[in-house]
Amino acid sequence: MNILAIESSCDDTSVAYISGSIKDPIVLHAQKTVSQIDVHKTFGGVVPEIAGRKHAEAIVPLIEEILNDRETPDAIAVTSGPGLLTGLLIGIEAAKVLSYTLDIPIIRINHLEGHIHSVFLPTDDVSKPALDTLKFPALCLITSGGHTEIVLMKSFGSYERIGKTLDDAAGEAFDKIAKMLKMEYPGGPNIAKHALLGNPKAIPFPRPMINDGTLNFSFSGLKTSVLYYLQDNPKYNINDVCASAEQAIVDVLAAKIKKAIALHNPKSLILAGGVSANELLRTTLQSIAPDIDFYTPERSYCMDNAAMIGAAAIHHLEKGESIDWREIDGNPNWRIDQV
Ligand code: KG4
Ligand code: ZN
Repeated sequence: MNILAIESSCDDTSVAYISGSIKDPIVLHAQKTVSQIDVHKTFGGVVPEIAGRKHAEAIVPLIEEILNDRETPDAIAVTSGPGLLTGLLIGIEAAKVLSYTLDIPIIRINHLEGHIHSVFLPTDDVSKPALDTLKFPALCLITSGGHTEIVLMKSFGSYERIGKTLDDAAGEAFDKIAKMLKMEYPGGPNIAKHALLGNPKAIPFPRPMINDGTLNFSFSGLKTSVLYYLQDNPKYNINDVCASAEQAIVDVLAAKIKKAIALHNPKSLILAGGVSANELLRTTLQSIAPDIDFYTPERSYCMDNAAMIGAAAIHHLEKGESIDWREIDGNPNWRIDQV
């Protein structure tokens, strides 16, 4: 099955053409992403109105370029939530027009379900197994600028949210701490770079909720405590601040995953979302449970991309789960357990 996929839920407009089935490894024929980071950078975060306008400018040329002379796809997959409504609506409107004109079904995809499926996307150098090799239950940590959730996946399409952040997402904590250190948005990669040169034990930043007995997170207290530290220590060592803050975030994420493994005894562990690009997090989670199959995306698919939305559509398409173009709408708060 050939799928044209569209992602526009935040600050990347992305279009991809993939093929695959549950039993065959995914083939990524083409993908192109237009990033808005340079525009939002000056504001220190994503501005929804500007995002909507930029998506509108980018989407049609991207679709034309990706469809090009390729065979008419069997379906269109489009992110329908969660995310910024201004962005979601642009992708959805494009999908509706294509569905009507090409007479093909639309699969509405939850952005977080997309991130989970990013672990099956191959690169030119790395091939990936077919979707049906995944052993269930799979424990998924989806951690990005907008989300930090632990999801228990019992089969394709069956998701239970067992942990979530009560305030900031982990990526948001990276971004806000980076902003205090006058680093550019997105902050995660910049903090990680400085952290490599610092001492993670230099500053005892708090590990909020680490032993509270739940699988939930809270990162806003950490951010505040970094702020107070910077105010009290104007001659701070930036590398030590980055290394200590990164270690605090990774310690909390790892502790909750350990607890979730003990409670749910999963056969697979999936780490996905923008923050999964963090090397310390990748190596820490991989070493937590050597007996469990560990999956994380190739680096090029950690951040938002359309190919993961196409990958998540495969099982829906095989089950005949499509939606009429007259009925699809964006849902900024669509939870993964409502898929
Ligand atoms: O998934 P994504 O592209 O967009 C959302 O859905 O939010 O994730 C972007 C987030 C940003 O907060 C960014 O700072 C974070 O992922 N990020 C990282 C790293 N690379 C990206 N955080 C920590 N370490 C990294 N290497
Ligand atoms: Zn995302």
